[in-house]
Amino acid sequence: MRVPRFPIFFSISVFIMLFTATTLAAESLPNQDDIIQGAQLYDKWYAVLGVNPPAENMPIWSRQSTNTRSGADTWRCNECHGWDYKGAQGEYQAGSHYTGFPDLYTLLPELEIEAIVDHLNGKIDPAHDFSAYLDETSMAQLAYFLKNGLIDDTEYIDPVSLRVVNPDIAHGQELYSSTCLSCHGEDGKAIVFQIEAINEYLGSVANRDPWRFLHRTRFGVAGTDMPVGMRLGWTAEDGRDVLAYVQSLPTGGVIISQPTQNPLASPAPSIGGPASNLWTGILTSLGTLAGMLVIAGLFIGGFLFLALIVVVIFRRRGKRNP
Ligand code: HEC
Ligand code: HEC
Repeated sequence: MRVPRFPIFFSISVFIMLFTATTLAAESLPNQDDIIQGAQLYDKWYAVLGVNPPAENMPIWSRQSTNTRSGADTWRCNECHGWDYKGAQGEYQAGSHYTGFPDLYTLLPELEIEAIVDHLNGKIDPAHDFSAYLDETSMAQLAYFLKNGLIDDTEYIDPVSLRVVNPDIAHGQELYSSTCLSCHGEDGKAIVFQIEAINEYLGSVANRDPWRFLHRTRFGVAGTDMPVGMRLGWTAEDGRDVLAYVQSLPTGGVIISQPTQNPLASPAPSIGGPASNLWTGILTSLGTLAGMLVIAGLFIGGFLFLALIVVVIFRRRGKRNP
């Protein structure tokens, strides 16, 4: 009797195929750490990477004259594209941060990861070139964040008062007391922020720029050991509830800087993105994983079917010429 070598051969190849398929699936899914790192790079890449920001203005900066900041700030993604990622269509549609630069939130569904990277390395616009400062990993993390990490809070923040619509303040207070109070204090004044040489408290940041507050609560602040909402498994609602509670904390008497939103402007229409909150984000990732497993399964099934045919043919031949 002959030793059936085919079954052994095929189980080994099936094992190899399964292994490569799952490795590929795992590699193409950005993990949470990459998204968080991308979000912090979006906030202030030179702080994340521990490098000195360029001294001169970002070349694209000269295409506008309404925002009069200069130097390091002009290199931050959020300064041009906003903390709500909506550029001239969002919170920066008026006020001292206005530049007229594009709304990424609306453009992103059309952009693949590679296209975003090409926007960052200067291939598409040589003036929009960060390749001297950001390596490939950082650019990919920025792209992962933009594709998988954005949450649209437009409907939940009143464009005139900048307050959260229908918050659960008690839930916000609970989360604040358990997670934030130890550092920021009962009244949010334990840490004083220096924002453009002005002292601000947590309450003033929450009232002046709720989108900045939400971005930094969800993704953390580079160079600090502040907890990261995304890592804690916080939903979009959790973040908004904490924001609403912090908006009730003291602002230090006056909100020193003016809100950036023009009260007369109507909110830009929100166009569906890849994931509108953390949950749909997670569902999308799970969906992608499931899809990949199904494809891998079909692939392996097809292979097994072929193997079966080959085995049958060989057996028949074996029977004919014993
Ligand atoms: C000085 C302002 C400025 C800064 C800083 C800036 N951008 Fe841009 N960005 C622009 C302008 C203007 C455009 C549109 C013209 C162009 O593509 O150059 C643009 C285009 C883009 C696009 C392509 C949108 C599209 O489909 O047309 C992406 C993606 C993007 N930026 C991401 C980023 C990221 C990520 C960062 C931070 C690393 C960043 N930008 C920093 C001004 C800026
Ligand atoms: C381990 C201490 C620590 C904890 C806990 C902590 N933070 Fe922070 N937080 C910091 C530090 C440090 C900074 C940065 C201060 C600076 O930039 O000068 C900061 C900055 C911030 C900012 C940015 C303010 C700005 O300049 O825009 C926000 C928003 C914020 N924290 C919210 C929170 C919230 C919400 C929680 C609870 C989920 C929290 N923090 C918990 C230490 C902490």
